[in-house]
Amino acid sequence: MAEKKVKWGIIGPGWIAHKFATALQVAHNSELDAVGSRHIDTAKKFADEFHIPKAYGSYEELLQDPSVDVVYIATPHNLHLENTLLALEHHKHVLCEKPLGVNRKEEEKMIEKAREKNLFLMEALWTRFLPNIIKTKELIDSGEIGDVKLLTASFSIKSDNGPEHRHYNIELCGGTILDTGIYNIFLSLLLLGNPKSISAMAGLSEQGGDNSCSYTFKYEKDTLAVMYSSFLADPPVVAEIHGTRGKIVLDHLWFCPGKVRLIKSDGKEKIFEFAFRSNGYEYEAEETAKCILAGKTQSDLWSWKNSIQLISTMDSIRKQCGIVYPKHDL
Ligand SMILES: NC(=O)c1ccc[n+]([C@@H]2O[C@H](COP(=O)([O-])OP(=O)(O)OC[C@H]3O[C@@H](n4cnc5c(N)ncnc54)[C@H](OP(=O)(O)O)[C@@H]3O)[C@@H](O)[C@H]2O)c1
Repeated sequence: MAEKKVKWGIIGPGWIAHKFATALQVAHNSELDAVGSRHIDTAKKFADEFHIPKAYGSYEELLQDPSVDVVYIATPHNLHLENTLLALEHHKHVLCEKPLGVNRKEEEKMIEKAREKNLFLMEALWTRFLPNIIKTKELIDSGEIGDVKLLTASFSIKSDNGPEHRHYNIELCGGTILDTGIYNIFLSLLLLGNPKSISAMAGLSEQGGDNSCSYTFKYEKDTLAVMYSSFLADPPVVAEIHGTRGKIVLDHLWFCPGKVRLIKSDGKEKIFEFAFRSNGYEYEAEETAKCILAGKTQSDLWSWKNSIQLISTMDSIRKQCGIVYPKHDL
């Protein structure tokens, strides 16, 4: 019997949408059916590149297409709420790029709408679904490195883009916290849970967004998670988790498909390697399709509660640093 497939529509065909469309080519139970851009020429070019049957010159037109089951939203941060609500109103399931919303209130509105419409909604926190991250969590949970005492994680990109670019543009809710810092924070929450306290400090741009930010989480007893993100420098993007009986090292570009190095206190090293079929975005696509086909409204791996916990943590970091997005008050 032929495998049942969900039909995808993509809106906002920019940088990440290209990666996602590439991954969809290998994803199980998925078919790329339509693309929508603010400009028909952009939609057509994208459709040609990925052999997509339908191209639309507006997001709304795509949402009116009855054959589209699920929409992947790949627009800048400030538009996630508006685009998601519109998609849900048109009875589409939604996979929305990170961060789901730019503050807790926005995410609660999105979740409320998905619940009301009985539709699937998930934040595209792709790293959560990668085998290397799943393995890391398994190793920590099974006590392979004993009690965790220190987590360090960094994710910086030296961004030479101008002030209008979404990295810096405060109107688009730019800044490192929501862009790259989110991955560090996600890792700490995933592996260690909610911190007892947070201490954050940021270097702000003239627009008031964070060009760089550091955030330390304090857990029970003496355990710390020490993390940072920057658009001004490009140190190694590495994560390490140190426990009483060893450590786990995720090498450069730790948030991407990669290997896991487990190093025990006696120096013995075990390396876990994984075969990837595409660029890694296929895992979040497959999880989405699987949940939709099973009639679920959220994923057990990255639930609404997980997204709320993540954005609430980022809200408190922003508050400490005095970062406010115009028109998107905390
Ligand atoms: N998961 C990941 O690894 C990853 C990596 C990078 C980015 N992201 C996330 O993906 C989202 C998009 O990032 P990106 O790097 O792909 O951005 P991008 O290249 O700028 O693409 C965003 C697209 O959104 C549309 N758009 C609608 N209104 C816009 C506006 N006012 N300004 C700019 N573009 C607008 C544009 O498409 P049309 O004009 O054609 O409609 C544009 O191509 C963000 O949420 C970001 O955090 C995720």
